[in-house]
Amino acid sequence: MRFRLSAAILICSAAACTSKAPPRVTPMPTPSPQIESAALTLVPLPQHVERATGSFQFTSATMIYAEEPFTASARFLSDLIGLAFGAQPPRVERAVTEPPDGSVVIRRSSPLRAAGGEAYELQISPNRISIVADEPAGAFYGVQTLRQLLPPAFEYEALRAPRRNVPPVPVPAVLIQDSPRFPWRGAMLDVARHFLTIDEVKRYIDLMALHKLNRLHLHLADDQGWRIEIKSRPNLTTYGGSTEVGGGPGGFYTQEQYASIVQYAADRFITIVPEIDMPGHTNAALASYPELNCDGVARPLFTGTEVGFSALCVEKESTYTFIDDIVREIAAITPGPYFHIGGDEVKMLTPPQYQAFIERVQTIVQTRGKQMIGWDEIAPTNLLPSSIIQHWRPKTTPAEAMAKGVKVIMSVASRAYLDMKYDAATPIGLTWAGIVSVKTSYDWDPGTAAEGVPEASVLGVEGPLWSETLANIRDVEHLAFPRLAALAEAAWSAQASRKWEDFRVRLGAQNARWTALGLNFYRSPEIDWK
Ligand code: ACM
Repeated sequence: MRFRLSAAILICSAAACTSKAPPRVTPMPTPSPQIESAALTLVPLPQHVERATGSFQFTSATMIYAEEPFTASARFLSDLIGLAFGAQPPRVERAVTEPPDGSVVIRRSSPLRAAGGEAYELQISPNRISIVADEPAGAFYGVQTLRQLLPPAFEYEALRAPRRNVPPVPVPAVLIQDSPRFPWRGAMLDVARHFLTIDEVKRYIDLMALHKLNRLHLHLADDQGWRIEIKSRPNLTTYGGSTEVGGGPGGFYTQEQYASIVQYAADRFITIVPEIDMPGHTNAALASYPELNCDGVARPLFTGTEVGFSALCVEKESTYTFIDDIVREIAAITPGPYFHIGGDEVKMLTPPQYQAFIERVQTIVQTRGKQMIGWDEIAPTNLLPSSIIQHWRPKTTPAEAMAKGVKVIMSVASRAYLDMKYDAATPIGLTWAGIVSVKTSYDWDPGTAAEGVPEASVLGVEGPLWSETLANIRDVEHLAFPRLAALAEAAWSAQASRKWEDFRVRLGAQNARWTALGLNFYRSPEIDWK
């Protein structure tokens, strides 16, 4: 989509700005270094950045006026600014027709509807900051862009203490008009191989929101652990959830805890995508319920990292009752439309057994009101047009499924797997899909990444982070950042405006913000960290 603009549009990169429309009648003012640097701090790169003169001054008197349904985004901004200026965060008030000078205004503009619910316009002028959107997600993204133009120190928890006599904080004048390239901008956490606490998952959600990511795929069951309470099958968590890779204590989320993650994510416009991997990667279930095995004998718990040795007994009718219980209970606490069934790396079944299994599970998922997602091994099966393939194997293509009308999430391991090492010296991570430098994760086009998959069939991009070698959230952060920010830009920003040399400068400018957030990011030598 394109926005209609009354003035020249400058598309700014680190190197230069190029005019895309007839020049203004009056010459453009010379940009101040401060404004130049403002455009350089934004990741992902917005669609249009038009520079202006002057700056807005944030002070202790700044108020935020917001109309419903945008007050949640207004409060997010107020919480972010917090006590940086005084005894209380900026007040959030109902929108008024004539907000006083010096305010932030967040309001609805239906002309933006054509640009989609995630589109927004952010205008910063010396007397006002205005964010307009048609839907709450757009307003939230406008706030995230404004956030990246505020001093990084605002992200620092200690700043939430009251301060006095703080000088006004200037925010550079600019007009930004923005909307994403793809609707699916995701990340995946493997909480099965190594468990993450609810607070750790919420921290990842926060980091995703800063980069306008909108899908968090949770890999909730694998050979090493079952992580989501299923009330009708309690052994799955009490026994199957009791360990992890390396023999640690594992853990699981109760349904109430899972619901709290879902809500926390929804408040940040992130949809949770639950995955229960099947028919393989199921040892934790096979250990918990003997009847899921063809020989009726429970398997021992597993804390290693081999793959491909486990499979549900697909010939038993009771296996499908089990799957229906799982899908039913998880679907009931998952407001998002998706249910991921895994389907990868199945070595214990014949191709006809595998195909029949996937098609039957697809019906169960559909009956429980969800759209099925599966890793790209499901491509040859009879998929419904609403089913989605997650493409991960670099040397294959799911092209054969295109005639069925399915959509594809691009997670090609050689680009998007965040658990690959950055270079030979990375102490954690794997290398089976190669070394994935920051540039490698950035410099590709998701629209052409799989032969025979047209851009119109690409739903978006997702960065999976498998946790065989990750012990805790510090490890997670180290492998995810900066590459998750690179994938966020690949998913959000127009391909033609994405340039590695420009990105590495904007990425380098994240140093102060990410440091203030306490993020354990990899200070890649490919980037000039500011
Ligand atoms: C996968 O990496 N086995 C989907």
